[in-house]
Amino acid sequence: MEKNLLVLLKEKRVFEPPKKLVQEANVTKWMKKKKIKNYEDLLKKAKDSEWFWKEAAKEIVSWKKPYKKVLEWKNHYAKWFVGAKYNIVFDALEKHKNKKKIAYIWEGEPEGEIKKISYKELNVQVNKLANALKKLGIKKGDRIGIYLPMIPELPVAMLACAKLGAVHSVVFSGFSANAFEERINDEQANLVITCDSFYRKGKTIPLKKQTDEALLEAPSVKNCIVIKRTGEEVPWNKKMDLWWHEITEKESSNCKTEILDANDPLFILYTSGTTGKPKGIIHAHGGYAVGTGITLKWVFDLKEKDIWWCAADVGWITGHSYIVYAPLILGATSVMYEGAPNFPEPDRWWEIVDRHKVSVLYTSPTAIRMFMHFGDEWLEKHSLKSLRLLGSVGEPINPEAWIWYHEKIGKGKCPIMDTWWQTETGSHCITPLPITPLKPGSATKPFPGIQADVYDKKGKPITNAGGELVLLNPWPGMLQGIYKNPEKYQKTYWEMYPEVYLAGDVARKDKDGYFWVQGRDSDVLKVAGHRIGNSEIESALVSHACVAEAAVIGKPDEIKGEKIAAYVILRKGTEVSDELKKELAKHVGKEIGKLARPSEIWFVDDLPKTRSGKIMRRIIKAKVLGQDTGNISTLSNPEAVEELLDAK
Ligand code: WTA
Repeated sequence: MEKNLLVLLKEKRVFEPPKKLVQEANVTKWMKKKKIKNYEDLLKKAKDSEWFWKEAAKEIVSWKKPYKKVLEWKNHYAKWFVGAKYNIVFDALEKHKNKKKIAYIWEGEPEGEIKKISYKELNVQVNKLANALKKLGIKKGDRIGIYLPMIPELPVAMLACAKLGAVHSVVFSGFSANAFEERINDEQANLVITCDSFYRKGKTIPLKKQTDEALLEAPSVKNCIVIKRTGEEVPWNKKMDLWWHEITEKESSNCKTEILDANDPLFILYTSGTTGKPKGIIHAHGGYAVGTGITLKWVFDLKEKDIWWCAADVGWITGHSYIVYAPLILGATSVMYEGAPNFPEPDRWWEIVDRHKVSVLYTSPTAIRMFMHFGDEWLEKHSLKSLRLLGSVGEPINPEAWIWYHEKIGKGKCPIMDTWWQTETGSHCITPLPITPLKPGSATKPFPGIQADVYDKKGKPITNAGGELVLLNPWPGMLQGIYKNPEKYQKTYWEMYPEVYLAGDVARKDKDGYFWVQGRDSDVLKVAGHRIGNSEIESALVSHACVAEAAVIGKPDEIKGEKIAAYVILRKGTEVSDELKKELAKHVGKEIGKLARPSEIWFVDDLPKTRSGKIMRRIIKAKVLGQDTGNISTLSNPEAVEELLDAK
């Protein structure tokens, strides 16, 4: 981090946006209509955020019944477009239901497997599933756990839930059975949707089997709908399992969309925080539609002819917002790919870009660094000339990766939209527009209508120094709370500074008002762009019979940004061995998922603690990375700090 910070402080390059792009941009057209002169003028006008979001809503949604009030702000909860009747499905699907235009170009991992699904077909599939769900008793407010890989049925399932007013909760298919079980129990899911198995790096992953393990301890779930993806044989529970193709086959292709309140919940998405238990972030139909729709339209400038590829997984917020809802609201054509980026070879993505003429590509710094590492020879066979705009999300992008992405993928002509946002924010918050001068490594400025700042510990704005990133006023994509946990909501986001939203990131604002996000504060890791709580991994470790205590820290990693290092105190009498390290890593994989497996495990006799017994991760990290640990005399066991260097 320190080294990165120095690199960022030295970064002085500015990339002006190409003139033609600026002239033709969606945002430029809108500015002309509103007689707004330029980017700075736009940001200034949009400081009247209620005016701005009211205007943005006009660009994106058609209410079933108009709202009475733009915003109601109470006790840190925002209700947007109060009184409006709505369902996101009206804009994401019904509006386009007769279009032959392709909604998804889908590629399976096995080569040659390509499906194109039109808006019309998508609508039929959604309606059939919604009708089948209704027959199973699913209704408004029910929770549906969706445990699926990147196959077209995933957006179909989400939309069918939304259509009925049921709340979907998608769990990333890379999470383990235990992680799925924890989530469906927290939300008391009524039904789950999964598939037999799916392809990843040439192998199949047995998702139905994992689902069955989760369902052993999930009494609220009455049915399990299974999609046939690979055709592999699966265990079957006659009492609750149903094949998707069988229950949808005879259903009607019409189904009424429930008219809801704009603030009714659309989904719950679990994300990591400071405690061992993930929190269920809630998003509602109306505001979320406006936030995601307008950001995709303006930041990535999507036009009728674009081929959009957000190469994230739908299991994370990036996929919810920018593979499912926003592109559908805009009626765009999206690419969706099931498998690994380097299967069968490291140029699979570039093959996909050329084959489908992708014009806008959105991915993560980890992916970019991985492609850099594979070597430029993998780009030689591919022209990539269809690309016109690029995007980055999920973690800070180092200027070196930014420049490589710009030169090698964008051939020097595609601006890079480095978008900062979170599961909680629903849509981009700090991000360039195609009219913004870019500085490599900076997410530039807040999106119009959003106001952000960097505060010191006392809550004073600071420039050119690291501090807490905060958002000053509510925005429509904002979370509606944490599922069944209002205390945690207040504590996590509103306790440090009572009047502003605490993002939990460390950032710097430069003299031009550009934001440089440096990373999460110490309680959450970002490994390959995936958000994982240190304490989630620690609780997984201590749930192993041999472990007494554990502390998890992130160490810098050239490709993944951060890698997971665990410092473990074993129970008395446990033999230290490499086998045990492997077993512990495997155990974490089973508890959370492979993505959370530590890359390094170190055995220690003691861990530095405060007098109240809190393990000091920050000090462990500083010590093992050879940095200044600061004052350690107030610890209850300062000698433990030096002993870290004897870890085995
Ligand atoms: C990090 C992902 C720097 C940040 C959309 C944030 C970023 C967390 C950027 C949210 C970016 C996301 N530059 N850091 N452009 N985008 N982050 O909830 O630490 O998975 O708080 O949402 O990712 O992660 P989440």
